[in-house]
Amino acid sequence: MQAVDPVTTSTGAAPARVGTERLDELDATDLERHPTGIAEVDRVVGGGWVAGSAVLIAGEPGIGKSTLLLQLAHHAGQAGRSVLYVAGEESLAQIKLRAERMGVGASLQATRTVDATALAAHIERDAPDLMIVDSIQTLTVGEGGVPGSLTQVRDGTAVLTQAAKRAGTTLVLIGHVTKQGTIAGPKVVEHVVDATFALESAAGYRIMRALKNRFGPAGEVGVFDMTQAGMTPVANPSLAFLAERPSGVPGSVVAAMLEGQRPLLLEVQALASTSPHSNPKRVVQGLDARRVDVVLAVLERRAELPLGGLDVFVNVAGGLRVTDPGADLAVAMAVWSAVTNQVVPADTAFVGEIGLAGEVRGVHLMHKRVEEAARSGFDTLYGPPHDAASVHAVRHVAEPMRALKDRT
Ligand SMILES: Nc1ncnc2c1ncn2[C@@H]1O[C@H](COP(=O)(O)OP(=O)(O)OP(=O)(O)O)[C@@H](O)[C@H]1O
Ligand SMILES: [Mg+2]
Repeated sequence: MQAVDPVTTSTGAAPARVGTERLDELDATDLERHPTGIAEVDRVVGGGWVAGSAVLIAGEPGIGKSTLLLQLAHHAGQAGRSVLYVAGEESLAQIKLRAERMGVGASLQATRTVDATALAAHIERDAPDLMIVDSIQTLTVGEGGVPGSLTQVRDGTAVLTQAAKRAGTTLVLIGHVTKQGTIAGPKVVEHVVDATFALESAAGYRIMRALKNRFGPAGEVGVFDMTQAGMTPVANPSLAFLAERPSGVPGSVVAAMLEGQRPLLLEVQALASTSPHSNPKRVVQGLDARRVDVVLAVLERRAELPLGGLDVFVNVAGGLRVTDPGADLAVAMAVWSAVTNQVVPADTAFVGEIGLAGEVRGVHLMHKRVEEAARSGFDTLYGPPHDAASVHAVRHVAEPMRALKDRT
């Protein structure tokens, strides 16, 4: 390779001047946002669709991507906005049938064209308010490309995204995720789009989660039920996730968690049994296994709970994943309950991060958790000090154990 003189381009010509602008002299107006028509979706996307933005909605086959987007297309249409549905996966007749089944009517413009260049030209000419591409894996760009290949997905998406930005169109791209959870195709476009939302399933519900969002907070979640009428928002996710909680069973406790900015009550379960192995097992699902290991070590050393020789299983019921460190105290109490065979009262929940000294630490947005616990019928919340009558302040992990010992 030849060394390139830093002040000339590779062709040897003098480089063009770079135009620069002062930000405070720019005429920047606020983002133009339009409600999606489903409040639960607005919550996740950050208040509505943004004109001229491109978003990716990724999920496994059959999770409900087409269903949700058809509903959102319908709502946009109802609000008098122009919508184009690019049907790369299914025939228009199939989509019409789905719309009829869901009762959303089929007054919607749709096309089976998947040529990204032609679609981009359409965007620039007609500037639809909303364009839905189902899915990016069916896009083609240029001659002879194989749809679904990484370059086709990436280039097709880029062409459409640029056109959407120029035209002020909100571009919603559906992307398939493989069973292993890697966003194989979608991953290559994640940096091109302004926001990425994942559709997942947990405890029989559908969860929409903001993984990346240039126009709103990431981490926000929406919870839906897949019904005949499509994706129906779940009014009270806490109660929904706790619906199958067994009563009067040791090892089951409720944690006052936070998903994004949303408080959510979840069941943490633990089971302890005498290990046949010389090296007892620790099996963790839905929580950070290393965090749980730390909590177990703290229980042994700071709360005198003997765990030696026990296999310990800890999981979040319903297959949800929790990254909130505020789950520590609930994990500790679930393990305590399982090991000592003491049932935790049904109306009691827990929250708090646990430090290595066994201290219970404060958590983010405690007031929201306190409100959610009270709203869902949990009269007692053990956690870091807070000025609400329902909160039993605990400063050390052993305190709630002493308080609940031999109570039931
Ligand atoms: N009548 C119905 N009532 C309730 N749920 C239904 C009904 N018909 C289909 N479903 C659900 O809808 C799901 C399919 O939804 P949808 O086609 O929107 O998913 P998708 O993510 O677009 O899937 P794909 O990856 O195949 O395109 C099915 O898995 C099924 O669970
Ligand atoms: Mg689909």
